[in-house]
Amino acid sequence: MVRHFLSLADQSPEELRALLEIARQVKLNPPAFASACRGQTLAMIFQKPSLRTRVSFEAGIFQLGGQGVYLGPKDIQLHRGESLRDTGRVLSRYCDGLMARVYAHQDILDLAASSTVPVINGLTDLLHPCQVLADLLTIQEKRGQLTGLKLAYVGDGNNMAHSLLYGGAQFGMTVSVVHPRGYAPNPEIVTNARQLAANSGGAVLITEDVEEGVVDADVVYTDVWASMGQEAEHRERVQHFAGYQVNAALMAMARPKALFMHCLPAHRGEEVAAEVIDGPASVVYDQAENRLHAQKAILIRLLGRKHL
Ligand code: CP
Ligand code: NVA
Repeated sequence: MVRHFLSLADQSPEELRALLEIARQVKLNPPAFASACRGQTLAMIFQKPSLRTRVSFEAGIFQLGGQGVYLGPKDIQLHRGESLRDTGRVLSRYCDGLMARVYAHQDILDLAASSTVPVINGLTDLLHPCQVLADLLTIQEKRGQLTGLKLAYVGDGNNMAHSLLYGGAQFGMTVSVVHPRGYAPNPEIVTNARQLAANSGGAVLITEDVEEGVVDADVVYTDVWASMGQEAEHRERVQHFAGYQVNAALMAMARPKALFMHCLPAHRGEEVAAEVIDGPASVVYDQAENRLHAQKAILIRLLGRKHL
């Protein structure tokens, strides 16, 4: 059975803890892992743009002794009708792993079903597990623990909200999603997250009430109001999300030393005020850095030489 990294709900809490531990070690001593993926090739399919995911995966596989091959939307035959299944079957004959950023989550499931090498989810419309693994590493570094903390996600019930629900629930955190009417997270994801939380001692709260969601939060998280592919809805979303901006007044509802987090890219003056993202509570660049370390842990786990 080929192992993939498609969703934080697919992994056991022990597997996730082990990944965070590898990430911690990789970050402490990168040269110790310089041959972990020697000679291995990672194909990187991007149907959407990317700064962090692209560069951190490409630098990460290189630093582990392997190489990445960037395949943008116009570089391969998908836009001319070649199926993802055929793409996955063919790439499996050349490469040791595939990383893909696609629109429909079903596309990454199809890719994984056809691939004979590990597939890593580099973001779909539904989930963004690599980002949240890096976020969990960041929270652990800053707070020394995950279990028992409260993370309040304020904004669109999107791929980030979903993966934070899964990641937080796996680690016994309380995750609240605070959203405007009409932008709730996917009910199936919420049900799954509640099940994970029941097993871990965590909790899930979905609310439209900002104060209810943010009170006592150790971490306040937000993301863009219009995700990639929703550009045409940007103007109406800015209206619907008024009142859900993370600014100093909203941060004051959380715990006094609460962290501010954002997966980036950010839009200052929309989902977050500059005073917050550029202020002392913000750890957004540490999060971005931790993409590199967390993804190296994933690569070592899935592609790494057997003794690791
Ligand atoms: N956070 C994140 O995934 O950024 P990119 O879209 O730039 O990869
Ligand atoms: N929700 C955002 C996340 C970007 C990293 C998007 O999908 O565009």
